[in-house]
Amino acid sequence: MSMKRIAIVNQKGGVGKTTIAVNLSHALAKKGKKVLLIDGDGQGHSTKHLGHEAENTLYHVLVENLDPQNAIINSRKNLDIIPADRGVRAISMKIASEVGRDTLLKNAMKGIKGYDYVIIDCPPGIDALSFNLFLFADEALVPLSMDPLAAEGTAEMVGVTFKALKDRLNHDLKINGFIGVAVDKRTKRAQEVMAMLKKAFGKQVYKTSIRTNTRMRESPGSQQSIFEYDPKGNGAKDFDALAQEFLTRTQRGVPK
Ligand SMILES: Nc1ncnc2c1ncn2[C@@H]1O[C@H](COP(=O)(O)OP(=O)(O)OP(=O)(O)O)[C@@H](O)[C@H]1O
Ligand SMILES: [Mg+2]
Repeated sequence: MSMKRIAIVNQKGGVGKTTIAVNLSHALAKKGKKVLLIDGDGQGHSTKHLGHEAENTLYHVLVENLDPQNAIINSRKNLDIIPADRGVRAISMKIASEVGRDTLLKNAMKGIKGYDYVIIDCPPGIDALSFNLFLFADEALVPLSMDPLAAEGTAEMVGVTFKALKDRLNHDLKINGFIGVAVDKRTKRAQEVMAMLKKAFGKQVYKTSIRTNTRMRESPGSQQSIFEYDPKGNGAKDFDALAQEFLTRTQRGVPK
């Protein structure tokens, strides 16, 4: 199987991108898949969540032409990471006047092989770095919070941005799926938002959602994935189910 590149995308902040990036990556690694996680966010949340300090980052790859192989560090069995720190925030400004600035990452990563999945934790907002991440990715996985207006706005924004990528840069970033995060199934609001998403996006919405879970909120501070911090809890169960559904989707093709 060729290497699949999946960007975890949502312009809105704090909707669960990093939570999905870290725990889905570890879930896949535990299932024997070879995974490279790229921390594309200057907040460095994925990097810190897994207990790493950044040495070489995307900054060195995109701005200083470092071979990405020299930025990759091993994190867990079957899981490697290209870490990030605040330097990553300067990338967009630094590459602004480069020729082909949107495809710098795609070009830089050409020699990287041997992974089943590359998972990309994208920053909130959109800038020249985001476009590099999008143009490198084959598919986008979109976490959605259970706030009805945010969910609606996000879906719209994703539609507009992805259409512009296709129309202007000829890049067809497929939607792998939408995932409800921090879903409290007992609340009417969460039920309404999930129903609205299913109506609007049909099979693009994952059957699995990630339930609200205190342990999940605590795990980044412990520098452990949910599988290490609370292996028997609901968070680990949800991410195991999510990984299974993800594998079925990426192997069979994305449902329309
Ligand atoms: N299922 C859950 N239950 C409880 N808290 C959660 C859950 N999922 C995520 N969180 C918490 O919600 C917060 C935001 O999540 P996260 O950092 O993954 O969002 P993000 O989209 O990556 O944010 P940013 O845009 O700033 O990068 C974090 O504190 C995280 O621990
Ligand atoms: Mg994040």
